[in-house]
Amino acid sequence: MTTVENGSGTRELTGKRALVTGGSRGIGAAIVRRLLDAGAEVLATARSATSTVPEGAAFVAADVRTLAGAEALAAAAHEALGGVDILVHNVGGARPHPSGLAIPDEEWQDALDLNFLSSVRLNALLAPGMRERRSGAIVHVSTAAVVPPAPPFLHYQAAKVALENYSRGLAAELAPSGVRVNTVSPGRTATPGGEATRKHWESLGVGPGAVGTPPLGRDGRPDDIAHAVLFLVSDRASWLTGQVVGVDGGEYPRG
Ligand SMILES: NC(=O)c1ccc[n+]([C@@H]2O[C@H](COP(=O)([O-])OP(=O)(O)OC[C@H]3O[C@@H](n4cnc5c(N)ncnc54)[C@H](OP(=O)(O)O)[C@@H]3O)[C@@H](O)[C@H]2O)c1
Repeated sequence: MTTVENGSGTRELTGKRALVTGGSRGIGAAIVRRLLDAGAEVLATARSATSTVPEGAAFVAADVRTLAGAEALAAAAHEALGGVDILVHNVGGARPHPSGLAIPDEEWQDALDLNFLSSVRLNALLAPGMRERRSGAIVHVSTAAVVPPAPPFLHYQAAKVALENYSRGLAAELAPSGVRVNTVSPGRTATPGGEATRKHWESLGVGPGAVGTPPLGRDGRPDDIAHAVLFLVSDRASWLTGQVVGVDGGEYPRG
């Protein structure tokens, strides 16, 4: 038997078709790589293709902040893959602000569209197919840093908390059809987006967690998050749904 080093040691996702949003770099690219190594056929998406889209993945350009963008992406996924068995909503981010009250209305809308409604819309388009086939796995990528709520990220945190709550509710709705829905909540992870956000945050001189080291002694690597996602979409997690899994080096313990 041929095995590939993918964290599980097997091509356990052979025959599965996966769509990963924000799959061109950072955590998303690591997730794409892990799913490919595990044998899945993977379609990565972002607004533009880059050299960091992992080799072996198909790519489609889409902006997921609008319903039209989600519809175009779902149609492209059907065309490229014939259906989606694994859906990883990794796209997300926001620009920090020194005052929550000063976040402009359009940035609130943008944060909600990017971090929350993009998943709601794409699930509405693609999860019914999973339910019909009575099989599928959905993972939402949130953030461990939803507590304490802090002004630089009130819009981002509110959107991610909404995402986590929605994820639990969708898990309950889809469980009878065998479709599983979970959330992975990363701590600070070395990615292009994470680095840009941290620099901006530190330049504001506000906010908890901007400096220092997580209890496990280092910042996260994209693969730390990708391993958790791989586990959750695999059959090894077949009795696991409606969970929020923090992958954060111990920085944000939750009750
Ligand atoms: N890095 C961290 O420290 C950290 C911590 C906690 C949570 N997270 C979460 O983890 C996820 C990934 O973070 P990351 O740091 O890897 O992000 P990143 O380096 O900024 O990458 C973001 C990805 O999303 C794509 N993207 C951005 N806006 C988009 C849009 N409107 N439509 C479609 N694609 C879009 C980007 O490509 P284009 O720009 O070409 O579109 C890129 O592929 C996010 O949900 C983030 O909130 C990250």
